[in-house]
Amino acid sequence: MTGTKVTADTLRAMKARGEKIAALTAYDFPMTRLLDEAGIPLILVGDSLGMVVLGYPDTTHVTMAEMEHHVRAAARGKPRALLAADLPYHSYESIEDAVANAKRLAAAGAEAVKAEGGREILQQVRAIVASGIPFLGHLGMLPQRVIEEGGYHVKGKSGPEQQALLADAHALAAAGAFAVVLELVTPRVAKELTQQVPIPTIGIGAGPDCDGQILVSPDLLGMLPWFNLKHVKPKLNAAEQMRAVVQEWKQSVEGVRR
Ligand code: KIV
Repeated sequence: MTGTKVTADTLRAMKARGEKIAALTAYDFPMTRLLDEAGIPLILVGDSLGMVVLGYPDTTHVTMAEMEHHVRAAARGKPRALLAADLPYHSYESIEDAVANAKRLAAAGAEAVKAEGGREILQQVRAIVASGIPFLGHLGMLPQRVIEEGGYHVKGKSGPEQQALLADAHALAAAGAFAVVLELVTPRVAKELTQQVPIPTIGIGAGPDCDGQILVSPDLLGMLPWFNLKHVKPKLNAAEQMRAVVQEWKQSVEGVRR
């Protein structure tokens, strides 16, 4: 993709101008190229990788080595977009691990890293930012906590949850995060956060009033007919089309007589 390289500052400036940010996930070279050619400014090699590519039941199984492998593939697309990558489960428990693993993802080609959590990971966030790696926050429903929380639950329904989200978002911004993903946050609270925090909010299942939206690309493209998600209606039925094309090709091969 030609044009000026997107940086964390570009995304902050988009919020300041009231421009919405459309972000998507990619896990390999072709998807990165396609999203970049479509003009997507923020591409995330998410640890959703575990579920949508690697077939794990949730994201807690994803390893650093797996993230590095897929970040390298995505980075070979040399996107104009800012290429961010997830720090996987248990890779940022200590400040030392957080910085060392953020550097490993950066060495693989990530231009920013994301980790889940708020005030409990502030020291890690500050250390990552101090090491020169832009940091993307993630609040609300945290997929890496699905086992301890017993499922994927909407956040911000109660007063204390709402206050905690506000405090976490402000703390992440003050620690140097350039933007924050809000996952399954009630639309009312996501709107309030978006108005109050100085950095862009990127929503997923958090209503229309965030500064941007992010989706897991295979969900948007209808590549995963086995999952039933409430927050996304596929815009394409890629799974159905792929099955049909493969069947047609198979029949054309089988129909050939020697
Ligand atoms: O892993 C991922 O794809 C994510 C997005 C859902 C924001 O964190």
